[in-house]
Amino acid sequence: MNSLFRRKQYSSDPNQGQLNRVLGTWDIVFFGIAAIIGAGSFSSLGEAIFRGGPGVIILYLICGFACAFTAICYAEFASRIPTAGSAYTYAYASFGELIAWVIGWALIMEYSFGNIYVAFSWSDYFTSFMSRIGIHIPDYLTCSYTEAKKAVAGGSLNKELINAWNTAPVIGNLKVIFDLPALMINGIITWLCYQGIKESKNFNNFFVLLKLFVILLVIAVGVAYVNTGNWFPTNNEGVKSMMPNGFSGVMSAVSGVFFAYIGFDALSVLSEETKNPQRDLPRGMMISLGLCTAIYIVLTLTLTGLVDYRKFDGVGDPLAFVFQKENLNIPWMEFVVALIAIVAITTVLLVFQMGQPRIWMAMSRDGLIPKKFQEVHSKNKVPSFATIVTGIVVGIPIFFTDKTFILDFTSIGTIFAFVLVCAGVLTLPPKEKIKGRFHMPYINSKYIFPIVFLGGLIFFYFWQPDFFHTLLNWGDPIEGEFRLSMTIYIILNFVLCYLAFSKNLSLIPLVGLSSCLYLLTGMTHNNWFWFGLWFAIGLVIYFTYGRKHSKLNKA
Ligand code: ALA
Repeated sequence: MNSLFRRKQYSSDPNQGQLNRVLGTWDIVFFGIAAIIGAGSFSSLGEAIFRGGPGVIILYLICGFACAFTAICYAEFASRIPTAGSAYTYAYASFGELIAWVIGWALIMEYSFGNIYVAFSWSDYFTSFMSRIGIHIPDYLTCSYTEAKKAVAGGSLNKELINAWNTAPVIGNLKVIFDLPALMINGIITWLCYQGIKESKNFNNFFVLLKLFVILLVIAVGVAYVNTGNWFPTNNEGVKSMMPNGFSGVMSAVSGVFFAYIGFDALSVLSEETKNPQRDLPRGMMISLGLCTAIYIVLTLTLTGLVDYRKFDGVGDPLAFVFQKENLNIPWMEFVVALIAIVAITTVLLVFQMGQPRIWMAMSRDGLIPKKFQEVHSKNKVPSFATIVTGIVVGIPIFFTDKTFILDFTSIGTIFAFVLVCAGVLTLPPKEKIKGRFHMPYINSKYIFPIVFLGGLIFFYFWQPDFFHTLLNWGDPIEGEFRLSMTIYIILNFVLCYLAFSKNLSLIPLVGLSSCLYLLTGMTHNNWFWFGLWFAIGLVIYFTYGRKHSKLNKA
């Protein structure tokens, strides 16, 4: 039993590792922006606005808040353990092998499956850009099979999907429908990653600048047209409100909004390629997260001020959409935004495709997955085999999954990993202060956490009485899902209050933990089911392979 929780001791020597150390603070910030701003802001933002209305901005603040506290936890871990591997490595040091494996397994959902969503979004922008310049790719080569099938079965009005189903060539009994541009970009990114970190870095920095440029352009051009009346649309009861669908409408957008924040944590996998990981990595992570949060808030305010939130129903390219004929009617902006969005989304693919092989490399070094995954290319200095496997793991599901499923699946897995990272920091012993390294400040949560939690609960009660009413209303089956998660959340927080009080826990990781747990309340039972299944498969692999081959067996 004890061996399930055996911990690995890591050296805090920043000179270990075989990879090229070429990255500084600003390179990390650039990689951060590259990873964070992507399909979430260019694509899933549209659906999030539609669900939550302009009030979705509150969810951006909540997610930003949760991620900021989690980022400090990542920074603390990254400063103690400057080796590749992300949350997986950190869990191995604090919780032991089994949980480390679980996190490593959950991170596949974030890195590889997340990239499937991003590749689909890339394809959306690419396809619509091509049709704007007069090149039409057949519909059955621009969407996924399941998406088209669901659209036909559900009587969807989406013309492209229906057309894809009706015009697809048939081999045997199977209609040939797959997302060719998504597959294509996955192949290109895999090739780039294989060429090595230096080339990827230069490619990355240039395109991040373009991405920032287009977002600032959308804000600068859009701001003159903002109609503040759009921020307070009239809801079904005839009341003007920033949250026309109530707070539960806002919370239903959690997967899409949270997805927009995923990425800052991917930076910690670059520690073996960072010149001074203890200093540059935490700084880079904080700066990039802060910048991106500010950008999201302003961008969401701008978009919701330009067009009524209801118009964003089913809109996959919201940044270009607001400039379309029926909205602001600025064709050159529509063109420029669509073109640069393709580039912006590409940088996200790159960071995640670089991150996954490095996590596998760390797991392989520990003996939990086969040795082949730690093979480093002699010339390019990248984990070669793992890079190719990542390309395959992202590529194959493109044939048989769809965007909504992948978005929920990615978000639940990532939040789960964040929860464990914050909890892991709570278990760390105090460390000696060393100049030049990041140190998480210790603030005793004994009184602060219980007061803030109970105060927050009371505030919420008076601010959103309907929300609490829903929570206590046992009749409605859909709200019932939410009620169960929320009830569990409140109970867990009472436990955290008790632990804070009795064990003088550190406030920052505790707040990170509580806020990430809060985000999990937005997940449906269906999400939990698939997550549970994934989890179970992971456990089977661990018990049949990882546990037997673990390096700690010999220690
Ligand atoms: N945050 C990344 C994106 O929005 C994953 O694409």
